[in-house]
Amino acid sequence: MTDTQITSTVTRAIGDQYDEFQTSLESLESLGVQQKYLNYGFRSSADQTYEETQIQLCLEVFGAAGIAPGDAVVDVGFGSGEQSLLLAAKFDFKQYTGFNISVNQVNYATHRAAERDLSYKLSYRHGEAEALPGVANGSVDKLTAVECAFYFDRPRFYARAAEVLRPGGRAVFADITLCNALGFLRKFREDFRRIGTVASNRRAWEQHLVTKSVRDINPETRPGVQGTVFRIIKLASMAHITGKQRREWWKMAFYTQLVAIGQLLGLVRYELIVLEKKTAA
Ligand SMILES: C[S@@+](CC[C@H](N)C(=O)[O-])C[C@H]1O[C@@H](n2cnc3c(N)ncnc32)[C@H](O)[C@@H]1O
Repeated sequence: MTDTQITSTVTRAIGDQYDEFQTSLESLESLGVQQKYLNYGFRSSADQTYEETQIQLCLEVFGAAGIAPGDAVVDVGFGSGEQSLLLAAKFDFKQYTGFNISVNQVNYATHRAAERDLSYKLSYRHGEAEALPGVANGSVDKLTAVECAFYFDRPRFYARAAEVLRPGGRAVFADITLCNALGFLRKFREDFRRIGTVASNRRAWEQHLVTKSVRDINPETRPGVQGTVFRIIKLASMAHITGKQRREWWKMAFYTQLVAIGQLLGLVRYELIVLEKKTAA
């Protein structure tokens, strides 16, 4: 496995950051601390635990995708791979291929699937969502991205998604964007350009894919965003976590706090987006 296909320094830096997260999460496992998912969660009832809301967010995406028997599923930015095990437990499909830019997360997910005798059905590749190396055009029924598309170079990602999907195939994202009024920020920083605005992202995907629905999930995700800040601070303060790992967690806590404030002020939007590849006329 090499990372030579990742040419963007921004993307490499994100991959390095998630490598650090994965290393620290694995070290915490030996202390009995489990953090299986890395998303803010979708709260549909007050009695759900944090992890239940994180599972719920994944299920919202997989449910909206309409995963069906016979489906070839490509899932990008799968974190530690827990969502692929969830998918295998809850849905019937033919083949799952996950893409991630963190080598450590690819290795961990591969190991976990093997432990559960699921390697025949679940496979994980190191590669960018924008490139999907080795995926044949028109071969994918469902493409999913749970809380990660804001890291992508979106024009490249949407174009590649449309190439790999079969006509009538679906792409579903749980996605965070900026409100249109903050569009000027895109000129100043690459990370803001990647996050994009509600309008700029829609313009970009509609060059390739048809919009089926866009659902505002701010109310369901907001409690988890603020809760995540506190969880990260607690985790980063553990004695086991030091040096670069600790700095990366603090950075994540800071950006998550910005998302929480942005959601509260209506400047940041969390949406569940369902797109479709046009069927041939
Ligand atoms: C916030 S985490 C979400 C993880 C997981 N989906 C979940 O819900 O727990 C973002 C994930 O996206 C991955 N990622 C970021 N940029 C990527 C890219 N360009 N291509 C593929 N994966 C990427 C990261 O390595 C990380 O695993």
